[in-house]
Amino acid sequence: MEATAWAGVYRDGRDLYTVNRGPPGDRVYGERLRRDGATEYRMWDPFRSKLAAVLTRGAPNDLFAGVGSVLYLGGAHGTTVSHLSDVVPEADLFVVEKSPTAFAPLLALARRRANIFPILADAQLPERYRADTGLVDLLYQDVAQRNQAAIFAENARVALGPGGRGLFMLKIRSVTQSRPAGAIVREARDEIESAGLRVTSEIPLAPFARDHVALFVRPAPRR
Ligand SMILES: C[S@@+](CC[C@H](N)C(=O)[O-])C[C@H]1O[C@@H](n2cnc3c(N)ncnc32)[C@H](O)[C@@H]1O
Repeated sequence: MEATAWAGVYRDGRDLYTVNRGPPGDRVYGERLRRDGATEYRMWDPFRSKLAAVLTRGAPNDLFAGVGSVLYLGGAHGTTVSHLSDVVPEADLFVVEKSPTAFAPLLALARRRANIFPILADAQLPERYRADTGLVDLLYQDVAQRNQAAIFAENARVALGPGGRGLFMLKIRSVTQSRPAGAIVREARDEIESAGLRVTSEIPLAPFARDHVALFVRPAPRR
C-alpha cells in the first residue's frame, strides 16, 4: 500500500483505499477490506463515489490540507461520507440530507464514527443549520438538483470560511435535458462566480460518473 499526494488516501496499483476509522471489520456499502499489519484499509470505488472519481481523475494535492470542518450537502446513505471521515478523521463532518429514507442509514453510520454529524434538512435553506456548522473549511456538494448552482452559492455565502474551498459535483442533466452540456457548465460557473466565488478548475468525471463535472471553488479575494 502506497501513500498518495492526498494525506489519508492510499493506493495499490490503480485502486484507492482509506484507513478504516470505523469499528474493525465494518463495511459501509459492501466495500472490500484489506489488512496490512495492524491497519485495516477500505477500498474506495470511483464508480460508487464521485470523490474517489475526482481523485482518480486528478484533484489538487492540497484538497484536504488543513481541513478541520466540512459541510457536506447530499450525504445519501453515507458512501462517500464514510471515506471522507477516514481521510480527515480529526475534522467535524456536518452532513445535510433531506430524504428521511437516506437519513436512517446515515444516522446509523454516524453512531459508528465520532466525526460525522448528520443534519436532516433541505440544503436550500442553510440558515436553518448555520448555527450548527459555523464557518467550514470545505464545502462539498452532491445533490443532483435543478438549482444546484444556486444551492452551492447560497451555502458558500452562509457557511464557507474566508480561507475555505469548495467542491461542487455538478450533475449536468439534472439542470435540463434540452441544452448542450458545455452551456450548462458555463452557466453554473457564471452563477457561482457572480456570487463572489472563483472556479479554479473543472474536471469531468467520466467514465466513473457520466454526465458529471467537478468544479473546484475558492472564495474570491476581497478587493
Ligand atoms: C447523488 S445522491 C448523493 C450521493 C452521496 N454524495 C455519495 O457519494 O455517497 C444525492 C443526494 O442528495 C439528496 N438531496 C437532493 N436535494 C437535496 C436538498 N435540497 N437538500 C439536501 N439533500 C438533498 C438526495 O436525497 C440524495 O440522497
